[in-house]
Amino acid sequence: MTEADFYLTYKGVYVPKEYHSPESLRYCEEFRFRPDDILIATFPKSGTTWTQEIVPLVLSRGDPASVESLPNIQRCPWVEETEASRVRLEDRSSPRVMTTHLCYHMMPLSFFTAKPKVIYVMRNPKDVLISLYYYHHMSVAYGSWFDHVRSWVNAEDKSHILYISYEEMCWDLKVAVRRISKFLDKPLEDELIEKIADRCEFKNMKKNNMSNYSTLNIIDQSKFQFLRKGITGDWKNHLTDEEVQMFDAVYKKNTQDINYQFIWD
Ligand code: A3P
Repeated sequence: MTEADFYLTYKGVYVPKEYHSPESLRYCEEFRFRPDDILIATFPKSGTTWTQEIVPLVLSRGDPASVESLPNIQRCPWVEETEASRVRLEDRSSPRVMTTHLCYHMMPLSFFTAKPKVIYVMRNPKDVLISLYYYHHMSVAYGSWFDHVRSWVNAEDKSHILYISYEEMCWDLKVAVRRISKFLDKPLEDELIEKIADRCEFKNMKKNNMSNYSTLNIIDQSKFQFLRKGITGDWKNHLTDEEVQMFDAVYKKNTQDINYQFIWD
């Protein structure tokens, strides 16, 4: 077995064949964004599913109907995986909420003219590494974390992008929900912010079968829970001092040209 058995290369980046086909990638390439679209952009394991719960709840002012009836992959489908989730995005009414794991420069042309609202969620790469390890036993899909984060935080036009971190969401979810709601021009009363934050707390969201991947035959839940631990700093339970030193050296070298104050630094 070689990498070619598992991955396709799209714009120089490995993407898993399990979720992508040449057709789904062509669909993405030709996809027409609308200015009122909302795009959740993440490197895998950075808080995608969490944000796919928060955003629909903000838009519905806390009404849980959509998060209780639609699996997250249909509620906030991936632009580059529409074939897999069998959702025709063209038929959806605005505002459409979508997801991507692609880098900024991999976005289709219409992204740069329509300038949809983007919520870019980042997470400490040491915790991304641990989360990925349990999920895939190390996947190389979607390229390097550094390239992904560099592409989005160095975006030419940042005016339509909200940068938020998994850590901020963990430390104070109400503040994070309020930031997201303001960015989406959906300011909410304190009571609703509290209601949404409570629903999206790890222990509560873990029970939502529409968000924990238990209804989708993608993951063998007897071996692995998608909502695994949901904390910051789990890397401290896994990496040795020597591994941390190695990681930090690679991190330092690769973030020199990223002009952004990461919350975990
Ligand atoms: P862990 O494996 O560290 O627990 P993604 O959705 O981008 O693939 O990210 C998955 C990670 O987000 C997993 O991290 C998962 O547990 C965590 N996560 C999902 N929902 C969460 C929530 N409500 N609160 C905290 N973490 C959550």
